[in-house]
Amino acid sequence: MIEYRDLHKTFDGQPVLRGVDLLVREGETLALLGPSGTGKSVLLKHAIGLLTPDRGDVIVDGTSIAAASEAELLKVRRRVGYVFQNAALFDSLTVADNVWLAQDDDRCLRPREDCFCEAEELLRRVNLDAAVLRMMPAQLSGGMRKRVGIARAMASQPSYLLYDEPTTGLDPVNAQHIDALIRELGQELGVTSIVVTHDLDTAFEVGDRIALLYEGRIRFCGTPDEILTSEDPVVQQFVRRGRVGAAALA
Ligand SMILES: Nc1ncnc2c1ncn2[C@@H]1O[C@H](COP(=O)(O)OP(=O)(O)OP(=O)(O)O)[C@@H](O)[C@H]1O
Ligand SMILES: [Mg+2]
Repeated sequence: MIEYRDLHKTFDGQPVLRGVDLLVREGETLALLGPSGTGKSVLLKHAIGLLTPDRGDVIVDGTSIAAASEAELLKVRRRVGYVFQNAALFDSLTVADNVWLAQDDDRCLRPREDCFCEAEELLRRVNLDAAVLRMMPAQLSGGMRKRVGIARAMASQPSYLLYDEPTTGLDPVNAQHIDALIRELGQELGVTSIVVTHDLDTAFEVGDRIALLYEGRIRFCGTPDEILTSEDPVVQQFVRRGRVGAAALA
């Protein structure tokens, strides 16, 4: 379970999060929508202690992130896979080494050949050829980097996955492939996830529930049916604009 409790964060005098309350239930996939620059990435980073709240807390799997020691934070990070918005690969390492680095210490002690097979399987799941393992990040397209970032987040077999814009910049076929993978990880392996996305199709495809972050707070959180029938004009405008935008692109 991931629980945001009255989370506040201000940067340079500018409040970004103004009291976020949000509960992500065990085994649930929650899609998080919100305008650009509204604090979605900031919200996600708090869950693994990359940012510290000014006020409030995030409880991840029973651990208070605000009160956690470095050792406790490390323990949380082992259980939580994080897909960074910009992939955040190590540019001087091969794709294979990028994926291996995400594995647990004892798993890294295994024969390199085993790790290679496992990394190959992870790449296959994100629709990438095994040959990509030997490449350097600079040789990859933006969409490929994104998919390697997802493979890396899955490498330590986490119980929680936090995806920051997993399908942005991907072509529709690969976006659908990633949507299906996110769904599968949730449904078959019981992974608890937050999926930050601009893509309304992804939100509806993967989200057991959908939340809207607006002006620093959670404006709405409910099922896909509930968001479609919400009478809140802000929610309506967001959903309608996204749908019209998606239709125009189709
Ligand atoms: N480390 C930081 N230091 C200062 N300001 C920051 C920092 N991280 C984020 N911000 C600011 O917080 C605000 C929210 O940023 P954030 O990246 O969370 O937005 P977002 O909702 O993820 O946007 P997008 O949809 O474009 O990815 C922005 O104004 C950003 O400039
Ligand atoms: Mg962001």
